[in-house]
Amino acid sequence: MVCLGNICRSPLAEGILQSKLPNDKFFVDSAGTSGFHNGNPPDTRSIEVAKKNGLNISNQTSRLFKGYDFELFDHIFVMDQSNYNAVIRQAQNDKDIEKVKLILNFSGSKIKEVPDPYYGGEKGFEHVYKMLDTACKYHSERLKNNL
Ligand code: 4NP
Repeated sequence: MVCLGNICRSPLAEGILQSKLPNDKFFVDSAGTSGFHNGNPPDTRSIEVAKKNGLNISNQTSRLFKGYDFELFDHIFVMDQSNYNAVIRQAQNDKDIEKVKLILNFSGSKIKEVPDPYYGGEKGFEHVYKMLDTACKYHSERLKNNL
């Protein structure tokens, strides 16, 4: 799961997807394309909205997305087009590029990007949570079916 800061959207996406997959078969992680918040925990607003929905994401730590992540992960979900461009820049080949998908790019979703809630209020975080929950329901079913 990749966003810009790895403190708002992708930590939520990591927690949500992890909660929908068997943990002995899948490893879910998140990273940011900026490194602005390296080493920091998620934004308190993300921690709060996750908690409200029964998820604890407070132990996560922000880290930078690296080219090596293409070797570690089979699927890379990005939150918006700008994240997509930053991740693709580090791809080595077509196989790497095929791993990268906008998380909202599935049939049934009218919106294609998860909006950055960083400069907004609580409402933005709840909106983002709902979007990610719907997307993760879809992706977790597909991932489980491809086991
Ligand atoms: P995120 O949100 O990419 O969803 O983690 C942001 C967090 C921090 C900043 C921008 C977006 N920032 O500019 O510091």
